[in-house]
Amino acid sequence: VGAAVAGALRAGDLRRDELFIVSKVYPHNASRSGTIAACERSLKRLKLEHIDLYLLHWRGAHPLADTLDAFETLKRQGRIRHWGVSNFDTDDMEELSSVAGGARCAADQVYYSLSQRGAEFDLLPWLRSRSVAAMAYCPIDQGALARDATLRAIGERHRVSAAQVALAWMLAQPGVVAIPKAAREAHLRENLEAAALALNAADHLELDRQFAPPRRKEPLAMS
Ligand SMILES: NC(=O)c1ccc[n+]([C@@H]2O[C@H](COP(=O)([O-])OP(=O)(O)OC[C@H]3O[C@@H](n4cnc5c(N)ncnc54)[C@H](OP(=O)(O)O)[C@@H]3O)[C@@H](O)[C@H]2O)c1
Repeated sequence: VGAAVAGALRAGDLRRDELFIVSKVYPHNASRSGTIAACERSLKRLKLEHIDLYLLHWRGAHPLADTLDAFETLKRQGRIRHWGVSNFDTDDMEELSSVAGGARCAADQVYYSLSQRGAEFDLLPWLRSRSVAAMAYCPIDQGALARDATLRAIGERHRVSAAQVALAWMLAQPGVVAIPKAAREAHLRENLEAAALALNAADHLELDRQFAPPRRKEPLAMS
């Protein structure tokens, strides 16, 4: 990734401020000094001066206060712009917000898709009310939603693909951004175009029938 980004920047194909680079620290590295060292290693590999958003990958044994202290140091040093977490459920977010500086968390990256809607029960409202962005990973459910019959039928009505319907639904959720992975250029282009697709009320009803929203608390899905 570092070589590709460096090549594109050097060639003038894009500017650094047009990119939003996200990286994560593994929980076993997330001590005060370990977080800073891990970030420096990532910056070196990425050939970058700063990371836009740096996340704690999931809860681990190091105290959250130590990780946050390192995140704030990295921010002061200009090595990261924002910090956040990943795979944190509501109770983890509550705990994080009780740590000094915890309210500065910018994002929680979680498994969230039409077929994994558990986060809607209380996590997404919690994040929304505190202006913490929810970053949906696996928004196409690792490719499965691209083959789904309901999404295909809705897509046919709009002359778009099933994957684009899945992404348009996701982007219609307030406070949520989606990070679909696509190695194929055609998929990348399709996914970008999904941002312009507006589903109607009938589409949403059909999706809610097929992929029911949670009625009770469910454990956060993880991949
Ligand atoms: N924070 C965490 O703990 C965590 C855990 C897992 C994943 N993630 C992140 O989440 C992101 C996505 O995860 P994911 O790859 O597991 O799931 P995903 O984005 O839901 O699905 C990716 C799969 O869908 C295919 N696809 C993408 N666009 C498509 C389209 N328009 N039409 C048909 N198929 C399409 C891709 O194919 P091609 O690649 O062949 O184009 C790939 O097989 C990754 O960037 C990953 O880093 C984070």
